[in-house]
Amino acid sequence: MTDIEQLKERMKDLWALGDYPEVAKRFVPAAEALVAAAGIGPGDRVLDVAAGDGNVAVAAAATGAHVTASDFAPSLVAAGRERTSALGLDVRWDQADVEALPYADGTFDAVTSAFGLMFAPRPEVAAAEAFRVVRPGGVVGLAAWTPDGFTGQITELMSEYLPVPMGTAHPIDWGIEATVRRRLAPHCDGLAVTRGAITWEFPSIDDTLAWQEANFGALVAARRALGDRYAELRARFAELVAEWNRGDGGDVRLPAAYLIVVARRDR
Ligand SMILES: C[S@@+](CC[C@H](N)C(=O)[O-])C[C@H]1O[C@@H](n2cnc3c(N)ncnc32)[C@H](O)[C@@H]1O
Repeated sequence: MTDIEQLKERMKDLWALGDYPEVAKRFVPAAEALVAAAGIGPGDRVLDVAAGDGNVAVAAAATGAHVTASDFAPSLVAAGRERTSALGLDVRWDQADVEALPYADGTFDAVTSAFGLMFAPRPEVAAAEAFRVVRPGGVVGLAAWTPDGFTGQITELMSEYLPVPMGTAHPIDWGIEATVRRRLAPHCDGLAVTRGAITWEFPSIDDTLAWQEANFGALVAARRALGDRYAELRARFAELVAEWNRGDGGDVRLPAAYLIVVARRDR
């Protein structure tokens, strides 16, 4: 196994910790916004990569598109398959790395990823793969957390403490428009950029931390690995929650900004 393959095996384990499907429930509006921005509709052949348990797959399939979803974590593929089948949606699920997709060139009308491809350790390789499997004239649509929001800042914080990176050194670089334009420029003529935000809501700061410690896989991984140093991370996490909290009267409302980019593959 090469070094990068070994690294990805460890990354997979990290993403499988906690309860990602519980976390993903909060990201549904962003998945729906991505599907709308990418113009996905009936009959489109869509691939969602780093799909988690299928937020985008569900939203795309609901339009009447033919959807394939893939993720490198087997437990999330299983969770996604169960979810879409319980909803009666005909979604094909594959275990796959975004940097080595098991599909022929030009197979799909649209390739999407919400908060997924942004974590691939080699951004240029992941971008090239997405454009390889979309047909000429098809679209690649990506959603990524931006640095000016709670989730982006938490992603940055976690990268200081994790025993294995979640993805690149700075996944939120995918949320910086100029960086995304530069990364996608070799594959497309131009791209459309929109911005959105979801709000994480909790009854209190204590509830926020308890919920994150139960469900957020990166925090679970850090807690296991850090020993006494976990208290420092927890305190910094709590500081970020307090800094970003827009709730009044004890409740917590955390704005998590994201960028959506839709790029059409050169013909
Ligand atoms: C924050 S979750 C987003 C999941 C989903 N797209 C959503 O919107 O809920 C990140 C996902 O990326 C997946 N992932 C990270 N690196 C990957 C890679 N190299 N190949 C495939 N999946 C990857 C993880 O397993 C995880 O499911």
